[in-house]
Amino acid sequence: MKATSDWKRMKMEGERITMVTAYDYPSAKQSEAAGLDTLLVGDSLGMTVLGYDSTVQVTMDDMIHHAKAVRRGAPDTYVVVDMPFGSYHGNDDDSVGNVLKLYQQTGANAVKLEGVECVDVIRRSVAAGVPIVAHLGLTPQSVGVTGFRMQAGTQEAAMQLIEDTKAVEAAGACMVVLEAIPSDLAGKITRTLSIPTIGIGAGADVDGQVLVYHDLLQYGTDRLPKFVKPYADFNTAGVEGLRAYAEAVKAARFPDEDTTYKRKVFEE
Ligand code: KIV
Ligand code: NA
Repeated sequence: MKATSDWKRMKMEGERITMVTAYDYPSAKQSEAAGLDTLLVGDSLGMTVLGYDSTVQVTMDDMIHHAKAVRRGAPDTYVVVDMPFGSYHGNDDDSVGNVLKLYQQTGANAVKLEGVECVDVIRRSVAAGVPIVAHLGLTPQSVGVTGFRMQAGTQEAAMQLIEDTKAVEAAGACMVVLEAIPSDLAGKITRTLSIPTIGIGAGADVDGQVLVYHDLLQYGTDRLPKFVKPYADFNTAGVEGLRAYAEAVKAARFPDEDTTYKRKVFEE
């Protein structure tokens, strides 16, 4: 299993970091079998597995519930877990308390927070011993304000984002996720920081990539964002399998001889 200290080393050695989201036992198990460097229990689970239209409704209890299942499915993979909306923007004592709770109760290896506003929470959490991943650029918990669109598209906003990434690095974050920003800006940030950048919709000039499991395998999703390339089609495979099953039952082809217990318990 990777350790937090491996991330800087991999960046220095130019080895790209692979990350995918996982939300439950089977997705974690598959991702570990596929050899991913790290898994993210993203609060995107609100949309991918709970059917909400944003991540805003996701609670601490939801994150703990799903992260524990991921931990069981991938005992030997570095797991990062998202702090949900509303759990780290009150006073800093409560916020740090929630970070410690999520880390301790899930057995995750690191905790991820969105935005630069929580830079003090990052500093205090790291001081308390919790590895922290920062998330800047498009921060989905703020979609009510920003919308789902590319961020930092002007030079002024880009300069601000560079400063923000420096601030989370200085606060002790061990990596930073950059979402939906221009590729040249992501490259500049990547060359400026000593911690790795993990991109999603940030182009190729970063230290690693993360995608949402349900997007990259096309599982329950019908519209993919511009920055997703699908690598499998679980939608088609799943619907075909379910239809074949239903047809077999209707036609009395299932269960068959092989799938039936044949011991006689009554005399004829
Ligand atoms: O929740 C999530 O899936 C994420 C990734 C998009 C980085 O935060
Ligand atoms: Na997230």
